[in-house]
Amino acid sequence: MDVIEAILTRRSIRAFLPTPVPKETVAEILDLAARAPSGTNMQPWKVYAVAGAAKEKLTKETLAAIATEAEAHVPEYKYYPDEWVEPYKSRRQKVGLDLYSLLGLTRENKEGMRRQQGRNYEFFGAPVGLFFTIDKHLEVGSWLDYGMFVENVMLIARAKGLHSCPQASWPPFHRILRKHLPIPEEEMVVCGMSLGYIDEAAPENHLETERAPASEFAFFRGF
Ligand SMILES: Cc1cc2nc3c(=O)[nH]c(=O)nc-3n(C[C@H](O)[C@H](O)[C@H](O)COP(=O)(O)O)c2cc1C
Repeated sequence: MDVIEAILTRRSIRAFLPTPVPKETVAEILDLAARAPSGTNMQPWKVYAVAGAAKEKLTKETLAAIATEAEAHVPEYKYYPDEWVEPYKSRRQKVGLDLYSLLGLTRENKEGMRRQQGRNYEFFGAPVGLFFTIDKHLEVGSWLDYGMFVENVMLIARAKGLHSCPQASWPPFHRILRKHLPIPEEEMVVCGMSLGYIDEAAPENHLETERAPASEFAFFRGF
C-alpha cells in the first residue's frame, strides 16, 4: 500500500470485528510510527496498549463512572473551544448529524445518542485500545510532533490491513486509566484509539466525511 492509498482509506471506524491483533503487530506499528519527526528529536510520545481482560476492565469501570458520576471526570487539557465559530461549528454539526442519521438516530433520541457515545468506551468492539500520553513538562510544539506520530500510527495500521478510530472521548477518564495502567501523574492523556479489523457491514462505517479543498484553505503566490 502506498502512502496515498493509506491516507485515502483511513477513516474513523466505529464498529470493529472481534478478530484479535497480535501484540507483535501493535509493537511493529508503534516502532514504525516513531519514525515521525519531532523538534530536536524529542519523541514526546508514550503509549499504553490494552487488550483482553485489561481492556474489558477499563470499559466496565468507565461506563459505570459515566452512569453514576460523569461530571466528576474532566480532561486535563481542552480539546474543543467553548465558543463555536464558523466554519468549525457547521462542520462539527454535519459530521455528527451524518453519523447519527446513518445509525437511524434522530435528534430527539437522546438515549440512542448516549448509547452511541458509550460505544467509545467499548472501543467500538475493537480488540485493541491505545492510550497516548505526553509529559506535562512539554510545550505546545511537542503536541505538534505528537499529531504526526498519531497519524503515522493510523496510516501504518492501514498498511497492515487494520483500521482505527482516534478518540478524544478518553482523556476525561484519566483517573480511571491511571488506576489500571502505570501512567505517572506527570503524564497527561492526549487521546485514546481503537484499533482492529473493520466490520464492513456496520452502517456507521459507511460515513463519508467531507474536506474543503486546498483551493479554499491555501494561498499560492509566485508559482
Ligand atoms: C484527536 C481526535 C480525536 C477524536 N475523537 C473521537 C472520539 O472520541 N470519538 C469518535 O467517534 N471520533 C473521534 N474522532 C474522529 C473524528 O470525528 C474524525 O476524524 C472526523 O470526523 C473526520 O472523519 P475521518 O476520520 O473518518 O476522516 C477524533 C479524531 C481525532 C483526530
